[in-house]
Amino acid sequence: MSATQDPVRRLTIADIGRMHADGERLPMLTAYDHPTARILDGAGIPMLLVGDSLGQVLLGYDSTVRVTMTEMLHHTAAVVRGTRRALVIGDMPFLSYSTPEDAVENAGRFLREAGATAVKIEGGVRSGRTIEALVRAGIPVMGHIGWTPQSQHGMGGKVRVQGKSRETARGLLADAVAVQEAGAFAIVLELVPEQLAALITSRLRIPTIGIGAGPGCSGQVQVITDVLGLGAFTPRHARKYADLEATIAAAAAAWAADVASGAFPGPAETVRMDDATLDEALGRTPDDRAATGMAIGLPAGIPLDRDL
Ligand code: KIV
Repeated sequence: MSATQDPVRRLTIADIGRMHADGERLPMLTAYDHPTARILDGAGIPMLLVGDSLGQVLLGYDSTVRVTMTEMLHHTAAVVRGTRRALVIGDMPFLSYSTPEDAVENAGRFLREAGATAVKIEGGVRSGRTIEALVRAGIPVMGHIGWTPQSQHGMGGKVRVQGKSRETARGLLADAVAVQEAGAFAIVLELVPEQLAALITSRLRIPTIGIGAGPGCSGQVQVITDVLGLGAFTPRHARKYADLEATIAAAAAAWAADVASGAFPGPAETVRMDDATLDEALGRTPDDRAATGMAIGLPAGIPLDRDL
C-alpha cells in the first residue's frame, strides 16, 4: 500500500451483515453535521443515520413531516464529509418515496449528490414494492417499522408503542418479513414491546436495530442529542451519557464573563506584529518624520502619523 492510500475504508452493507452474523451487537447513532460525524466516526460507530429527526432536533420544526429533500441532502453530505469509515444512511423524507419511481430518483440523489451508502424508508408491507425497486436499482435500504414518525398524523398523532394487541403484533411481524423479503439489509424497530421485538429479531436473517424496542434487537439506534444531553427532554427509551447542555451553557457564560472583564483574548490568543514594521506602515520612522508632508501616493483614508 502506498503512503498516500487511506488504510481506513468505508464500511459496506456486507460488513454490517458479517458483523451481525458474527453476533456483534450493532450500534447506530444519528448525526446531522460534520463535526459530530467526525467525532462519532473516530469513536468507531459503524453506522450513522442522518435521520429526518433533523427537523426537530436541529432545525426547530415541530415534526419530521416538514423536512425537505434539500435539507436532508445538505446535512447528509456534511456527515459523509466528516466520516471515513462509518456507513452513512440517509433518511428519505416525507413524500420523497410515494411511488417506486420517486423513491429511486430521490434515493439516487442521496447516493450521487450526498455520498451516502444507503437510505432508510418507513413502512412495512406497504413499502415492500418500493424497497424492491430501490434494491433492484442498486440502492441499499434500511427499513423502519413500529412507530413511524412520518405517518404520525395517520397514526393518531400521539407517539405510542406499536404492536401491543394481537392484531397489531401480527401486523408488525408481517411488516418485518415483508421488509426483509423485499431486500432490505437491516430494519429499525421503533417503540415495539421488547418481547415482540426479540421475537421479530429471532425470525429475521437481517439485523434489527431497536429504538425503544428492548435489548433483544440485533443493534440499537439513538438520537445523538439524547445521548449527549442536548435535547429539550430525554425520551423514556434514551439514556443521557453526557450533559452537554450544561457544559455548553457553562462554557458560553465563562467566555462572556472573560470578554466583559477583558481577560479574553489574552497573549496566547493574540498575534503581535513587528513594531518597526508598524512604524513603517504608519509613517512614523525617523525618515518619515524628516519627510513630513511629502505626498507618497497612498489612498486617502486613515491619515499616517507623518501627515498629522
Ligand atoms: O429520524 C430518525 O432519527 C430515526 C431514528 C429514530 C431511527 O428515524
